[in-house]
Formats: sequence, structure tokens, C-alpha cells
Amino acid sequence: MKLQVNGIDLAYDVHGSAGRPWVVMIHGFPFTRATWSAQAAALGGEFRVLTWDLRGLGESGLGPLPQPLEAYVDDLLGLMDALGIRQAGLVGLSMGGYIALRAVQRAPERFRALALCDTRSDPDSDEGKLGRAAAIKTLHAGGLDGFVTAMLPKLLRRPESAAGRELLALMRSNHAAGMANALAAMQGRTDITPALASFALPTLVIVGREDALTPPALSEAIVAKIPGARLAVLDDAAHVSNLEAPAAFDAALLAFLREAAIPAAA
Ligand code: MLT
Repeated sequence: MKLQVNGIDLAYDVHGSAGRPWVVMIHGFPFTRATWSAQAAALGGEFRVLTWDLRGLGESGLGPLPQPLEAYVDDLLGLMDALGIRQAGLVGLSMGGYIALRAVQRAPERFRALALCDTRSDPDSDEGKLGRAAAIKTLHAGGLDGFVTAMLPKLLRRPESAAGRELLALMRSNHAAGMANALAAMQGRTDITPALASFALPTLVIVGREDALTPPALSEAIVAKIPGARLAVLDDAAHVSNLEAPAAFDAALLAFLREAAIPAAA
């Protein structure tokens, strides 16, 4: 399905019956909403789950460039408005976590629970910014295939697995312009760390034990700052922990969301 939000067509899916509490899931970079399929199925029996393709990725349009991270937050809030979602549980993985953190900082009244997965609250270091600049250049020069192939071993502990092959194909199906804009948006994101102490919603932080891109120490730092936040470190998983340890990921997320008592949709 598609909805026009902020002047662009966003591709989205809703899983689960009407009247259940909403859970909104934001995928990572450079993925699509398809990376949440197992979680949408697992949660869809008890919740109403919204997944969408971030602008410029998957089947969503890109619109005028450049678009900062704030535009991705606008899309989240705009989609929620368009679908009549007043309040929801929010789940974000990696770049999705950056968007989720900023959305909670900007519009805390819209969210009743927060699950941050394999992500971080601080902005890019100078080294990170230069890495993004090099990646953007590579993408504009036609190097998408090499870029995602080199990225895969950093995302999964078993890049050669069936899940790895699927993830690679999915990343290859994205467009260079959308990926380049996402990199620039992440490069320019703000530091949410100072705001974490004022976050007042139930929070679960999930991380793969072998996540080298956003290592567990970063998750521990978030948990130490958000009052009452809890940590789940998943064995046998690297950065995309929902794909590598789906059973443990879904169990932790479901238990958390049930406890959070998100109000049922009107
Ligand atoms: C992601 O998985 O969304 C990205 O690796 C995050 C990043 O590049 O900072």
C-alpha cells in the first residue's frame, strides 16, 4: 500500500487487526520494511503493526534532495497522522533507532514504549563523517554493488547464510540516490544523548552480542541514561539482530510490549 505523506509516496504495510495497540517499526540502513517480516508476523497476533519503507528506499519515493534526518521523522509522524495513530509503541533498528530517538525527543506524547535495537544515541565522529562522505562518493560513482557487498560482513555474523543472501539482494535492490541521502542524513544527525535522562517511557534496548557497528557498550550507555530502561543482549547475533536471532528478538520484544500496556487504538 502507498500513502502520500510530506509530498512523497511512502510504501507501507499494516499487520494485525483493527482495535489492537499500535506498534510502529522503523528499519535500518540500507534495508526496507521487508526486514521486519518475521517480527510483524510474531507481533501481529496481539498488536497492529505498521512497517514502511523509509523515503528513497524500497518502494518509497525520495522527493527533493537533500533531506535531513528530520525529514524521516516528519514521515514517521505524518504516516501516524494519516493512519489515525495517536499513540504507539515504537521500535527502531540502527538508522531506525536514530529516527526513533529523535521522534521521541520531538513528540514524546505520541509514544508509549520504545525499543531501540542495535543503535546509538550519539552523532557521527569526524572519522564516521568522512566514512559517510566516501560512501556517498562511491554510490554516486556507480559503486552500489561493491558498497553493499563490503557492508554485509559487518551486518551479520553469518553473511554466507540464506539470511545473508536475502539481505544482500534486498540491499542491491535499493537506489543509489536514496541510499546516498540516507547516509547524508545520518551524517548530519544530532546528539540525543543529553536528552535521554528526560525520556519518560518504558524502554527496551536490544543488541546482538557480536554487533561490531553499534557494539553492546553503546547500548549499555543508553540503558544507563534512560530511567528504568532494560537491556537484552542476544547471543549468536551481530548488527541485524532481528534477522540472526529472531526467536530471542521476538520473545524479548513481545514480553516488553505486553508489559508496556500501550492503549488499544480507538
Ligand atoms: C544501519 O544499520 O542502519 C546503519 O548501519 C547505521 C549507520 O550506518 O550508522
